[in-house]
Amino acid sequence: MVTIPIAASTPYDVIVDNQDRWIETFDWSYYPTIWVVTDEQVDALYGSSFRNQLCAVHPHVIWSVVEAGDASKSITHLEHLVSEGLRHGCDRQSLIVAFGGGMIGDLAGFLASVYMRGVSYIQVPTTILAHDSAVGGKVAVNHPLAKNAIGSFYQPIGVYYNVSRLASLPVQEVRSGLGELIKHAYLSRHVLESSFEDELFSALTERDELDWVTWLAKGIRVKQAIVEADEREQGIRAWLNFGHTFGHALESIEAYRIPHGECVLHGMVFAFLLSNDETRAKRLFDWMRLNEVTAIDWKPFDHYVEKMIRDKKNRNGIIRFVLIRDSISVEAIQLADLQYTFEQMKGWWTS
Ligand SMILES: NC(=O)c1ccc[n+]([C@@H]2O[C@H](COP(=O)([O-])OP(=O)(O)OC[C@H]3O[C@@H](n4cnc5c(N)ncnc54)[C@H](O)[C@@H]3O)[C@@H](O)[C@H]2O)c1
Ligand SMILES: [Zn+2]
Repeated sequence: MVTIPIAASTPYDVIVDNQDRWIETFDWSYYPTIWVVTDEQVDALYGSSFRNQLCAVHPHVIWSVVEAGDASKSITHLEHLVSEGLRHGCDRQSLIVAFGGGMIGDLAGFLASVYMRGVSYIQVPTTILAHDSAVGGKVAVNHPLAKNAIGSFYQPIGVYYNVSRLASLPVQEVRSGLGELIKHAYLSRHVLESSFEDELFSALTERDELDWVTWLAKGIRVKQAIVEADEREQGIRAWLNFGHTFGHALESIEAYRIPHGECVLHGMVFAFLLSNDETRAKRLFDWMRLNEVTAIDWKPFDHYVEKMIRDKKNRNGIIRFVLIRDSISVEAIQLADLQYTFEQMKGWWTS
């Protein structure tokens, strides 16, 4: 078990364990109602066992289930959840439990931030990707015109991982979660005492099951260091956007067929090629090809530009990328360079 204290505006602990020991030590007595929000898939796999564990420590547990998938991260679903909470008599002392992946974390976290002007919530993440989304306090629902367009910063009072639940993840979701973990590995040299980039690639190529407690804790420490330095995204938090400029464009063009973390993997290859770091681009590309990361359905270059031009990092209509070299920078990129890199990357994948 690893405990990582996060020094946010309201501090909290992230516990990464291979069981639910936190349930016995958590102080449930303060909350008259425990309100679990989960999705159908997680509910089918782990709902009854988790509910039994909670009912053993608390007499009043409410259970709300939404459909799996990002379509549930909407204002409509938020309103339905508020109705359920009101019908069950949840008041301002209720505790919301976000039980699921990043989608549930964002939806239940945003619900917690607005329900009766804010109630406490904890995250019980069930995906690898959620080691990223559960830390940092960003919560949101989507708008039909833009992902995460309605949201806020709202810190949980705790994050409690039981990595034994990761065993049931589909392989595509494992790769997607690894996308953000590999991103954290690239950033590690710049925010921690030492880099775990080479160590992670060795572990990944050994093809044994990763020790998730150790590896998720490493990823969380990178995210922790960055969000502690920049809780409300004024400065270095932009580094977390590495791989996301091309990644977000791809995600949108592919209409979310390729999961987020896999898009970030493609985006990191793109970013390394942009900074002429063929060695790192190639190592990542080789691992992606070997592990059958979802292939891009290539569209003409200007489709991607059209999306990247709307990236929130841009200034005066010029596309900017987070680049990792000896140091990390956010740089304006010329269209000709983008096109050259695009053709180069497409060449790698289609040869
Ligand atoms: N707040 C942030 O900082 C932040 C950062 C990155 C991503 N996100 C958000 O996170 C979401 C993506 O998160 P995600 O990848 O975890 O997706 P997700 O929550 O949609 O989960 C992916 C799929 O896996 C299923 N699943 C979850 N746990 C499982 C388990 N243990 N076994 C089997 N199946 C399981 C889910 O039902 C779902 O079908 C997006 O909405 C994205 O916008 C937020
Ligand atoms: Zn991401």
